Amino acid sequence: MSEHIEATRDGAVSIIRMNRPDKKNAITRAMYASMTDTLLAGEVDDDIRCHVILGVPGAFSSGNDLQDFLQAAMGGTGETQEVFGFLHAIAGLKKPFISGVDGLAIGIGTTINLHCDLTLATARSHFRTPFVDLGLVPEAGSSLLLPTITGHQRAFAMLVLGEGFTAAQAKDAGLIWDIVAEDEIDAKTIALAQRIAARAPEAVRLSKGLMKSNPDAVLARIDEEATLFGQRLRSDEARDAFMAFMSRKK
Ligand code: COA
Repeated sequence: MSEHIEATRDGAVSIIRMNRPDKKNAITRAMYASMTDTLLAGEVDDDIRCHVILGVPGAFSSGNDLQDFLQAAMGGTGETQEVFGFLHAIAGLKKPFISGVDGLAIGIGTTINLHCDLTLATARSHFRTPFVDLGLVPEAGSSLLLPTITGHQRAFAMLVLGEGFTAAQAKDAGLIWDIVAEDEIDAKTIALAQRIAARAPEAVRLSKGLMKSNPDAVLARIDEEATLFGQRLRSDEARDAFMAFMSRKK
């Protein structure tokens, strides 16, 4: 288990907390691996009925760890299988998956939520997917899911232009379910999960399955994106962007 992932349980709710505040919850390979393990364990545990993912105050996640990306870009062993293992896991969850976002939700910090059944966020939350700014392409199935959720134009603004969405805009676009106070985000997210966990589990599972009716298309898009993403990681555009961030010479 990564030291930056806390996995706990509250009754029938499995709670993952990303806890790397000094790096604004940038997600490392080890963090992805631990989250995948926790989610998959919860899927086969009859005592678990709902998954929750939370961040720390002010940072749900600043996205993939750019040092890891730089390592991959330089052709090191920093491959990305942990990322794509995690993406397959969240896209394939049969049990409900609920997120609570406070503050930064960048890159995968935004796209995780496209796989959630409900997301609560605080008013100060900020959703942004600067893939093209980094010379990359969308990931996590976002090129398929985001236009479906928000319509093409808002998705294009977010995915290609790198436009940020406030919590109010995200709610208006259907990206999140509701906005709650900063000091209530964790408790309200867990309470929402408890409400789901209290419902008839088989009926919940079947209902989610009906609504996520084409998981194979999402998984296929994740893989399609991953191929391009892997190529782009090694491009000069991406390498320059990662190095600029690392050396803050933008
Ligand atoms: N990967 C690795 N480290 C990251 C990171 C990331 N995605 N995001 C933030 N960090 C680190 C910073 O390097 C810094 O580390 P340091 O204190 O050792 O220098 C620390 O987290 C705090 O970040 P800082 O930039 O000082 O905070 P800020 O409040 O001024 O800005 C962000 C926060 C998130 C806006 C800014 O860090 C940022 O743009 N990060 C990159 C986001 C991104 O492009 N993610 C990938 C999307 S695919």
